[in-house]
Amino acid sequence: MTAPKKILLLPGDGIGPEVSRQVRRVMDWMAKRRSVSFEVKEGLVGGASIDAHGTPLTDETMADAMAADAVLFGAVGGPKWDEVARHLRPEAGLLRLRKDMDLFANLRPAFVYDSMADASSLKPDLVRGLDILIVRELTSGVYFGQPRGIETLPTGVRRAIDTQLYTEIEVNRVVRVAFDLATKRRNKVHSVEKANVMETGVFWREIATKIGKEYPSVELQHMYADNCAMQLVRNPKQFDVIVTDNLFGDILSDCAAMLTGSLGMLPSASLGAPDASGRRKALYEPVHGSAPDIAGQNVANPLAMLLSFTMMLRWSFDLHEDADLIEGAIKSVLASGMRTADIASPGTAKVSTTTMGEMLLRELDKAIGII
Ligand code: IPM
Ligand code: MG
Repeated sequence: MTAPKKILLLPGDGIGPEVSRQVRRVMDWMAKRRSVSFEVKEGLVGGASIDAHGTPLTDETMADAMAADAVLFGAVGGPKWDEVARHLRPEAGLLRLRKDMDLFANLRPAFVYDSMADASSLKPDLVRGLDILIVRELTSGVYFGQPRGIETLPTGVRRAIDTQLYTEIEVNRVVRVAFDLATKRRNKVHSVEKANVMETGVFWREIATKIGKEYPSVELQHMYADNCAMQLVRNPKQFDVIVTDNLFGDILSDCAAMLTGSLGMLPSASLGAPDASGRRKALYEPVHGSAPDIAGQNVANPLAMLLSFTMMLRWSFDLHEDADLIEGAIKSVLASGMRTADIASPGTAKVSTTTMGEMLLRELDKAIGII
């Protein structure tokens, strides 16, 4: 048995806690069957933390996140906290985690399982075999740029300001991550900005071009963000890796995610820079939100959270065999026709969150020859 991996689990709000419970079951399975153990500390974030402590993330929980080997995050937000001030909103907890842990590279894969090609709102032929990786810059740009605010000028005119700002280092490091990953995939990078209207776009393009020269095996294409949105729904399979800024990445990743038919299926990893020993700070979260409309009903899809966990196994712990096992089990469960409500279609069996977890454990036992 190797040393336990220190995980901070932040289930958050809405369906966060119920999908997190399915990951706990898989962790228990791994301890029992694979001799991989996790030391899990749970904390509050988002609305749950606002209710308990009056803030979406306490300093103690922030310190726990810094001390953990990896953070696993559920979802935050809900109508209950819609009216609170922006810096106290549930989302502010997530933004602080990203910023303070310096998680600049957000990996958002969008892929389609063969058995799920019919779930997309696009024609199955357009998405069958789809496998895109969006690399979104996550700690800068308009999300954090100063100045920002809403103010009233002496003339009485009110105005609002957000600032899109990028340093060379910030663009450099995230573009490099995209190129490195492309060399392990299909050697194609689309660098996405609005160089036709924005200074940060011109700057981004210039840096991407320079870095591209260091990767002669990778084909680099520049694309305007509006065109990218259009191309994603016109011909999504032209893309391999897309690298873009924080705001465009937010929008384009929702678009790419929906191509696959369900947000309930997609994981993400937010990574910092590796230190001298090669370890990086990291947070893993499903792309879906807190879905308050179905929270607590045991109908949510736990697969995005489980896939976020397998991304953790790969990126934080190099446990590729275990990640392969779990991903294989997910494929088998889907191929057997089991679906949570969000991805159910005629001819499939609609199952609950906990049943999905159970089926997965069964497939895992099968995969290692226990049953
Ligand atoms: C996302 C979300 C967040 C973002 C919100 C919850 C702050 O939409 O992770 O894509 O805008 O980054
Ligand atoms: Mg978003």
